[in-house]
Amino acid sequence: MIELKLTVNGREERVSIEPAETLLDVLRNRLHLTGTKDGCREGECGACTVLLDGKPIDACIYAAQAANGRRIETIEGLSGEQLGSVQRRIVEASGVQCGYCTPGIVMTLTALLREHPRPDRQLVRAALSGNLCRCTGYTQIVDAALAAAGDEARVES
Ligand code: FES
Ligand code: FES
Repeated sequence: MIELKLTVNGREERVSIEPAETLLDVLRNRLHLTGTKDGCREGECGACTVLLDGKPIDACIYAAQAANGRRIETIEGLSGEQLGSVQRRIVEASGVQCGYCTPGIVMTLTALLREHPRPDRQLVRAALSGNLCRCTGYTQIVDAALAAAGDEARVES
């Protein structure tokens, strides 16, 4: 077993893991943060997207050992007493159907809006290129991202 120290959603966590475990395994099976979804396990669908030191990664193909000492954000970290702007706008735009892709999409969009507070449609689409959704049209999700960007801009002004 290997000892791992991670900061997950602002909380320091220590876990013992097997060498072959992925970050997704650790989050879901050891820390019980099941909001991060387990889809293809091949780095193709984006359902497992989390932020590692602020950048979106596919947790299913990321060796947990490589995350030692680093900062992880998952969908649970964005949910306080109320939904964040990205989550709320996705719901309002009917950008959720089965919802399996949604946590990954929310994490990708959160990272995008932090780096580019005023993205255009093309930038949002490019950011979402690694997040597959099988049941909602991407149009609603992109609309939601642009609306969330507008919310943030209004808060700042
Ligand atoms: S489950 Fe990780 S990319 Fe599909
Ligand atoms: S809402 Fe079902 S996969 Fe996206």
